[in-house]
Amino acid sequence: SKLANGGGNPRDFIAKMKEGNKRVVIFYGSQTGTAEEYAIRLAKEAKSKFGLASLVCDPEEYDFENLDQIPENSAVFFVMATYGEGEPTDNAVELCQKLSDDSFDFSNGEHKLSGLKYVVFGLGNRTYEHYNLIARNVDRDLAKMGGIKIGERGEGDDDKSMEEDYLAWKDGMWEAFAKAMNVEEGQGGDTPDFVVSEVQDHPPEKVYLGELSARALTKSRGIHDAKNPFPATISVARELFADGADRNCVHVELNIEGSGMTYQHGDHVGVWPSNPELEVERLLCALGLHDKKDTVIGIESLDPALAKVPFPVPTTYVTVLRHYIDISAVAGRQMLGVLSKYAPNPEAEAFLKNLNTNKAEYSAIVGDGCLKLGEVLQYAAKDDLKAAPTPANTTVWNIPFDIIVSSITRLQPRYYSISSSPKLHPNSIHVTAVVLKYESSGDKVEQRLIYGVGSNFLLNLKAASNGESTSLISDPADSSPAKVLGGPVYAIEGPRGAYKQDTIYKSPIHVRRSTFRLPTNPKSPVIMIGPGTGVAPFRGFVQERVAMARRTIDKNGPEGLADWGNIRLYFGSRTSTQDFLYRDEWDNYAKELHGKFTMRCAFSRENYKPDGSKIYVQDLIWEDHEVIADAILTGKGYIYICGDAKSMSKSVEEALCKILGEAKGGSAEVEGAAELKMLKERSRLLLDVWS
Ligand code: 2AM
Repeated sequence: SKLANGGGNPRDFIAKMKEGNKRVVIFYGSQTGTAEEYAIRLAKEAKSKFGLASLVCDPEEYDFENLDQIPENSAVFFVMATYGEGEPTDNAVELCQKLSDDSFDFSNGEHKLSGLKYVVFGLGNRTYEHYNLIARNVDRDLAKMGGIKIGERGEGDDDKSMEEDYLAWKDGMWEAFAKAMNVEEGQGGDTPDFVVSEVQDHPPEKVYLGELSARALTKSRGIHDAKNPFPATISVARELFADGADRNCVHVELNIEGSGMTYQHGDHVGVWPSNPELEVERLLCALGLHDKKDTVIGIESLDPALAKVPFPVPTTYVTVLRHYIDISAVAGRQMLGVLSKYAPNPEAEAFLKNLNTNKAEYSAIVGDGCLKLGEVLQYAAKDDLKAAPTPANTTVWNIPFDIIVSSITRLQPRYYSISSSPKLHPNSIHVTAVVLKYESSGDKVEQRLIYGVGSNFLLNLKAASNGESTSLISDPADSSPAKVLGGPVYAIEGPRGAYKQDTIYKSPIHVRRSTFRLPTNPKSPVIMIGPGTGVAPFRGFVQERVAMARRTIDKNGPEGLADWGNIRLYFGSRTSTQDFLYRDEWDNYAKELHGKFTMRCAFSRENYKPDGSKIYVQDLIWEDHEVIADAILTGKGYIYICGDAKSMSKSVEEALCKILGEAKGGSAEVEGAAELKMLKERSRLLLDVWS
């Protein structure tokens, strides 16, 4: 007979399933952890609904040759994110390749998975062309190999409705799952994944107070990546909009000297914010933890194979809320059902239960009202949402902290397109971020200002770095409403003051590689379209060319640039005076590029069309249709679009279709669209867009 763990081959998931009596294995293709979180949620539900244990697997850590050996009474889940322009996430590249490759044999000697029971849930973004392509491909490949799908394939839209898409999909899937697996839904409550215990006499220097990796306390160096962010000094921080503008846009330079980190033009930087103090206070009060916020707690996973504690421990209550979990997001509908059990009174309980089951109510109150978890609790208990929360004016809910840690996801980094080139700025990464601030909507909850977490964190850092005496940076203990009028206050000193030395502040960061790059050959013409902060990566692109031009001119003089292609930048802002980003820099870049750089600007609240409508970048592109068609079709040029994914990039693509269609003597819809598709496939049209 065989050894239970197959002699301990750690890449053998079949052995692990048998060893742990697991009938479900869940593979996830995840880049930043969202797909992994959904994989874990599915595992938890299989447990709480049917009492089935699952193995949650990063596909990179396992071999697939024995996928055909899944025991008859088991099922395989694939939770697959589609990344970028229709690519698998890094950890799923090999899995996808093997599933689709007819010449790849499983242990049965064939490319067949007859009778394999499988479930597919995809995570994608509808603003991209290849919506959920990877999940669709996996589904197609498994069906082709003889697999039997359980339920329908689920598809979530990261742009808008991921959570709702998941909730709408999963019940039908579990019904089909129960039939296919011949199991019945039992009682099963919403069991926590973690146990939290208060710890006495722990050495204070070994308590994590916001460090983002376990390494931070042992001071071992290691490489800096998403798992071990680097605390980068802020060397420059300034406002980019003119005085008197009603919005902020911050320019921050992050010093990466000595970090071992490098970057390329077009890469993204992940900034790790904390939660604003107001929300931290609100939850401390609502959970009745205000008096013991600094108590040291240990957290253990009840099933480490299913869910690892997602941040370093031991830590403290306040640290978890401030640095580790996402209490700033709009509260999820499913979580509200779980929390209703701990309501302080029957009305509050009924209120949360209703939000949990009544989608329309949920969307009108929590969705439109943008209520964060602490705010929903206060609202349900009829506390005053506008007053600064204190233990005296906040109703206490007896929610065990285990449930909080189990049902709120980890605070994620915010990604920004880097706005510098390493050739001009090898030691610093520049970030250009417009500060997000908008009004909540709907008529159920009184309108409030909603503040973006990452950009307001940067705004705090900017103000503090410059020693500005604004209402923003104040005594964190003082959370009176007056102090938060200008925006939320953050604790930005970091753990044990690690992110603050005198007037110098730091932010934890890491670099995420992208494929948004200039063509290597400078002869290729380049068209860049980036209104608003969409101009960020293009400042990096132009700097990259400036650095190259300096070297070329050093060797061959300005004639060295004679055969270079033109690079054209289409920028848009409201006016030429208020929000024209980096307006003092472009002329100098143009001089250094000796006529090879052209900038076109659409000032939408300064110049209008004869009919009074606004002029946007897409209008300038159409105005320049001859030049653009020539650059693309004759010059084999490259096009880059960065910025708003919804309307701007769609309208720009339409304009491009029209230009290319016309130049080819056909229509925008047929010839233009075909040309654009070809450009995308050949990576000559690249997008870095967000919503
Ligand atoms: P607006 O605010 O005057 O409408 C940067 O935000 C610039 O992008 C602003 O000039 C803004 O104009 C403009 N903008 C807004 N919506 C746009 C769209 N759909 N397409 C192109 N530009 C747009």
